[in-house]
Amino acid sequence: MKQSDKERAQTERLENDYEVAQSPVIQKITNKVCGCGYVGSSWTTQSEAKKILKYLKLNENSTLLEIGAGAGWPGLYLAKQSGCHVTLLDIPVTGLEIAKKRAQNDRMSDRVIVLAGNAVSLPFYIPSFSAVSHSDVLCCLIKKQEVLKECRRVIHSSGLMAFTVISIQPDLSDQDRKQAIQVSPDFVESEVDYRTMLENTGWTLISYEDITEEFKISCQRMMLAEEELEEDLRDLKGSMEFEEGKVAWELKLKAFNKGLLRRELFVVKPIKYQN
Ligand SMILES: C[S@@+](CC[C@H](N)C(=O)[O-])C[C@H]1O[C@@H](n2cnc3c(N)ncnc32)[C@H](O)[C@@H]1O
Repeated sequence: MKQSDKERAQTERLENDYEVAQSPVIQKITNKVCGCGYVGSSWTTQSEAKKILKYLKLNENSTLLEIGAGAGWPGLYLAKQSGCHVTLLDIPVTGLEIAKKRAQNDRMSDRVIVLAGNAVSLPFYIPSFSAVSHSDVLCCLIKKQEVLKECRRVIHSSGLMAFTVISIQPDLSDQDRKQAIQVSPDFVESEVDYRTMLENTGWTLISYEDITEEFKISCQRMMLAEEELEEDLRDLKGSMEFEEGKVAWELKLKAFNKGLLRRELFVVKPIKYQN
């Protein structure tokens, strides 16, 4: 599956980010913010992962597909807690290699498949999963409806899908929209809202939560954690990157406080079998 230049640039950046995210200082920060204990790059907190576990009704008979799985957060955690089988799919291989090692260390390799692939065209020919999850992935890719369709194609008709996503509030002025885009993941924009996209791709909503407030708290925690570990971070990233990062967090929080963006948790089930 061919990526656009901008998508390729994102993948290259992420390859490096997952590598760096293993460093003790970033691990300390991730743990302070998300409380996860895994190498992660989304905003999924441990309490959110626990909710997903419940929403997806995961148990040892479940087969979970996690797309945009990164380095295994929260997919590996969900599998560890529930005893389910998990397939972790993403494009950057650095993250997947970290996930594979973590699965080995946690002695759960027999229940974990790690797969490099593009969610726009999933490498499964029949419905193979009882659950699908993705964390802040749709805002990191262009073909959102294609991915939702693919998730629908590979899930059992009785399956469940849970996902979080960041999106721009509708009906903003041009200036506010520009401000929102500036602080968002690369592909946050979409012409169609998520509820419509879900309807268009064969899903029906069973639960919805606006988790913007939790996200703002995570942003504040992140800023605090970076301040506490400033010296180590400057050593790791260099002073310029540290300063740029600090400004980026301030701008992000400002945009969320102004109500320009939201983060949501959707839980959906297939409407009916589609060919
Ligand atoms: C915000 S990160 C989340 C990573 C991980 N789940 C976590 O929580 O740390 C979004 C992930 O989506 C992946 N992604 C973006 N476009 C994708 C695509 N078309 N197919 C599969 N994964 C994709 C990115 O590579 C990235 O790892």
